[in-house]
Amino acid sequence: MIRKAVLPVAGLGTRMLPITKVVPKELLNIIDRPTIEYVVNEAIESGVSTLVFIISQGKGKIIDYFDIDMNLRSFLKERGKLDLLKKVEEVEDRIKHLIEVRQKIPEGLGHAVLMAERAVEKEPFAVLLGDDLVDADPPCLKQMIETYVELSAKISNHSIIAVEEVPIEDVSKYGIIDGERVAENLIKINKVIEKPLPEEAPTNFAIIGRYIFDPTIFEYLKKIPKVKGEYQLTDAIQLMIDDGYPVYAYLFEGKRFDTGNKEGFFKTILYYGIKDPQLKIVLEKFIKEEGIIED
Ligand code: G1P
Repeated sequence: MIRKAVLPVAGLGTRMLPITKVVPKELLNIIDRPTIEYVVNEAIESGVSTLVFIISQGKGKIIDYFDIDMNLRSFLKERGKLDLLKKVEEVEDRIKHLIEVRQKIPEGLGHAVLMAERAVEKEPFAVLLGDDLVDADPPCLKQMIETYVELSAKISNHSIIAVEEVPIEDVSKYGIIDGERVAENLIKINKVIEKPLPEEAPTNFAIIGRYIFDPTIFEYLKKIPKVKGEYQLTDAIQLMIDDGYPVYAYLFEGKRFDTGNKEGFFKTILYYGIKDPQLKIVLEKFIKEEGIIED
């Protein structure tokens, strides 16, 4: 039912400077894979077949990573490095239909999503932000699509946003929602506030970077004002709600990581490293035997 996903990857990645001067933050690696690959996998495992990447100057390498490199393929074949060839082909063949759209001016997340309008056409679509990785089974987006489909039996033109509870001192890093609980894991939203101060936040339910939108969102993205040089996605969501379009917050099951800052990125590497049984042993031995962490 959700065939297309938009991946806004045009951001400058200033929180991860200086490395992001030369490497797009989405290509920073968690062990041997770029962070964006985890997000792409989530979309594909959730049944999405068309991925729309919103890129900007210097971000073309993200597309190259998923594109076919014929020279590399023939080189690996000639040298008989078939294991490596398989690894490369597996990544290159993963995205069935890839669309690249340029956001020429950095004018915020709302503007980036609006850039996808022609590629998405008039159908419901997903948005996945590259900073947020979610380890979940079934994948977070798949959980959301299932909920979206269930709701479709009763309502139409609805949207769903993934949320999780965060410590109150962290609310100013996120879009925060308020609303009425309609099921154990579902809140009908009546208010969204972008990065409120802790004393202004109505709840601690934070928007994480996973959305399913009714295509009407594009009309609202055209209506919102630019604030401090940026068009905020949350402003368009609020207008949509005010006009009576149902928007739900979905409390997903799974573990979320924010790779967009140093601490979060480090935790993500450790988490995925330890998930690999061999690397887990390497880390345990390294800490114990080499005494790298002193009390
Ligand atoms: C964006 C959204 C915010 C959301 C967050 C999730 O903020 O504007 O509403 O909570 O992503 O990661 P950003 O992190 O791009 O500043």
